[in-house]
Amino acid sequence: MKIFITRVIPDRGVNLLRHAGHTVDINPEDRVLSHDELILSLQKDAYGAVLCDLDDKIDPAVLDAAGPQCKIFANYAVGYDNLDLPAMAQRGIAATNTPGVLTNAVAEHALGLLLGIAHRIPEADRYTRAGKFTSWGPTLLLGSDVSGRTLGIVGLGRIGSRVAHHAARGFDMPIVYYDVKRSEEFEKSYRAAYRKNVDDVFAEADYISIHVPLLPTTRHLVDASRLALMKKSAYLINTSRGAVIDETALVAALQNGAIRGAALDVYEHEPALTPGLADLENVILTPHIASATEETRQAMSEIAAQNILAVLDGRIPPNVIKG
Ligand code: DGY
Repeated sequence: MKIFITRVIPDRGVNLLRHAGHTVDINPEDRVLSHDELILSLQKDAYGAVLCDLDDKIDPAVLDAAGPQCKIFANYAVGYDNLDLPAMAQRGIAATNTPGVLTNAVAEHALGLLLGIAHRIPEADRYTRAGKFTSWGPTLLLGSDVSGRTLGIVGLGRIGSRVAHHAARGFDMPIVYYDVKRSEEFEKSYRAAYRKNVDDVFAEADYISIHVPLLPTTRHLVDASRLALMKKSAYLINTSRGAVIDETALVAALQNGAIRGAALDVYEHEPALTPGLADLENVILTPHIASATEETRQAMSEIAAQNILAVLDGRIPPNVIKG
């Protein structure tokens, strides 16, 4: 079978596909294909499977270009807001993602952002490199404590739970959380408190970490009114999807001191940044790299390949997304 991969990925999964006897074509350029380019690439051959990533918008035009022999689009990501699931289901094309293997990496990155913004680490790095460090100072670059402060988790999936675990065990942080589903077991394990209304998490927490998927119901979940509920001393961390936050409202909140800081790995109009964001000192901005460790990206490559191999063998893939 012929398989198309939309972007160069770590080799483990590619090797698995080739060892299974499949022919793999990979977009040779290390960049996102435009919608038109993706369509043209898929029309070049009769691909039985496509391995795509979160920047590829898999809509009806792309599915039609792939043709009726194409049985799966395996997303190289845990998030799948780029996939048109009803259109895929209508054509009998499987959709899969890569959950589990990136939980630790993303949770570590979220905590890194939290510690980095609280202790002003990137800002201090810029200060030091600029040659401004002339003496130790009692009031130099004062940040905020983390230990014992309340962490708000919005979205208690695998990653949100892992962030809460490290924060509670490592930094004695009391946890308040919101999710569509309550977990009494989680509450017992971490002495966490459930808030039925997400607004209460925004009002109570000192640090808020966002872990919801991007859905019509979560788009702009963090808007001007929720930012206004936050303490002036609080920080917002986002490693989920950018459009969960109204970035214009966030820039305004950061500019006028409505909140103390934000640390973002994802952006509303990715890769573009909302004007004003990059001018702020009280933000950390990373380029959607929360899962970007060697080990994790190889594991994602392997799991995406396994999903493809399962479908091409006529089996149910391990990570099928139910629409
Ligand atoms: C995902 O997997 O959805 C992340 O955003 C990228 O690894």
